[in-house]
Amino acid sequence: MGKTLEIDQLRTMYLRFFEQRGHAIIPGASLLPDGDPSVLFTTAGMHPLVPYLRGQPHAAGRRLANVQKCIRTSDIDLVGDRTHLTFFEMLGNWSLDDYGKEQSIRWSHELLTSLEWLAIPDERLWVSVFAGDGELPRDEQAARTWLELGVAPERIVYLGMEDNFWAAGTEGPCGPDTEIFYDTTGEPCGAPRCAPGLCNCRRFVEIWNNVFMSYERSAGALHELRRHNIDTGMGLERVAAVLCDAGSVYEVQGLRAIAEHLLSDLGKRHDELSERELRALRICIDHLRTAVFILGDPNGPEPANTGAGYVLRRLIRRAVRYCRILALEPSAWEAGASVVVEHYASAYPELQLRRARILESLREERERFERTLDRGSRLLAQLLERNAGTERLSGAEAFRLYDTYGFPLELTVEMAGEHGVEVDVTAFERCFAEHRERSRSIAAKSGLADDSRQSVRYHTATHLLHAALRAVLGAHVEQRGSNISADRLRFDFSHGGALTSEERSAVEAWVQQAIDRDLPVYREVSTSEAAKARGATGLFDDRYDGEVSVYGIGDLSLEICAGPHVERTSELGRFRIVKEQSCGAGMRRIRALLSPT
Ligand code: SER
Repeated sequence: MGKTLEIDQLRTMYLRFFEQRGHAIIPGASLLPDGDPSVLFTTAGMHPLVPYLRGQPHAAGRRLANVQKCIRTSDIDLVGDRTHLTFFEMLGNWSLDDYGKEQSIRWSHELLTSLEWLAIPDERLWVSVFAGDGELPRDEQAARTWLELGVAPERIVYLGMEDNFWAAGTEGPCGPDTEIFYDTTGEPCGAPRCAPGLCNCRRFVEIWNNVFMSYERSAGALHELRRHNIDTGMGLERVAAVLCDAGSVYEVQGLRAIAEHLLSDLGKRHDELSERELRALRICIDHLRTAVFILGDPNGPEPANTGAGYVLRRLIRRAVRYCRILALEPSAWEAGASVVVEHYASAYPELQLRRARILESLREERERFERTLDRGSRLLAQLLERNAGTERLSGAEAFRLYDTYGFPLELTVEMAGEHGVEVDVTAFERCFAEHRERSRSIAAKSGLADDSRQSVRYHTATHLLHAALRAVLGAHVEQRGSNISADRLRFDFSHGGALTSEERSAVEAWVQQAIDRDLPVYREVSTSEAAKARGATGLFDDRYDGEVSVYGIGDLSLEICAGPHVERTSELGRFRIVKEQSCGAGMRRIRALLSPT
């Protein structure tokens, strides 16, 4: 508890606090990062400031503060609990080689606890500081500053690299941090030590993270920077929630208004919802707000089958499915977009500007998905009619609906249940597993000999090489075969003649650049048809029209493949082509090596 403030007041108060302390207030950036294809969305306040953290002078000076809209979908399965959201606002203050660690901690403490500002009682705050790791020393200065500010030693926790060393990726500016937690209950959970990072209870909510960006990681090694920067990030919704002692972030301004709108449509009160319905409601609220912010962004995409547009599509479709649990009309859910625009327009005028487009795109996508669902429902109804009298729908039929028509299993179960028919879910899962197995064996044809760490690296390098050849030589290049071992990769492809030395160097440089950019490698499951439509390459097996696994590397490569792959391209090291030769009419063969950097 502290001062109860609405989101709008909290935003303003935070900026005023830092403005009074010499910070220039800078505008937040787009949710869709310009010129950084390694991420789909801005995920942290520091993201747009990386060039300045690296030393480029900022026109507004060396002390900056702002509010940044962020999207993180990595925790989407946790959305619906008390604290996780796919969209959130992050309050941040930065020192570009100006004030240091001690000052940063003192200001955070003052803003949080001073009666003039947020007035959080001291005993509610816990902090973690970096425990040190190998050559990196324990952060005694941070701990000493907290002690001097009156934080009791038992409320200071030392945690290692995993918890208290912040980096936006495996390359770039990074450093130890100190995290500030709010104690929601004051009650130990019974673990040997109930403290942030040391037990798994829900007592502590992280509210602020002060990163001391004194290092840069490049090619796997840490270098100390001459410049010492500070990057802090405070989750706006979380702080607003703890200040009013709310049970969850859904009780703060904005989110609360969406909840009220949806509940009034349902004609229900919060306390009339079951736990399952409450979670569904929160998912509908969260996804609606995120979809509105994506569509309302100046760089916002339309729903699509790739990239950020694909995330948008999934959020809308997922919400429409959760509407069913609530018995909420998807059109009523979508109408809540006006509430989002209204509540956020003063802080984010871009939403008001794009209001018509937001509503239109949401409606179109909702209708498209409803058509898919309708088609599936009709097929299912026919199926049930044909099999009238039976009490069981086979797993294979249910799988066909899912696989060919995109009709979700839980809807099949629900609708069949309405006709007194049970679905053989076990057999469905068997079909699912068999199809996955089949797509694995298709991938096995792609030539991965074993799944040792090094072979896995070569496997990812093969995808990059394939994409590089298409980028440098042209889209006529097609994979004809490949053979991978822990020692090298061999890749056969269609191309008329020998590569010139320029082409060969360009391919090599293209792959190396992709490695150095530390791109994420991600996996999706899709139908073979949808993967083709998204421009995926890879071996399509016409005999098999089922589900396939698709691997993407940043926005550079998309291939049907069952893996395994590395998680980030920086794991590959240095890439070198050692031989390029003919291997048949119109076919070339490349051998390439990876070596540690
Ligand atoms: N970069 C840190 C974070 O996102 C602090 O802003 O948590």
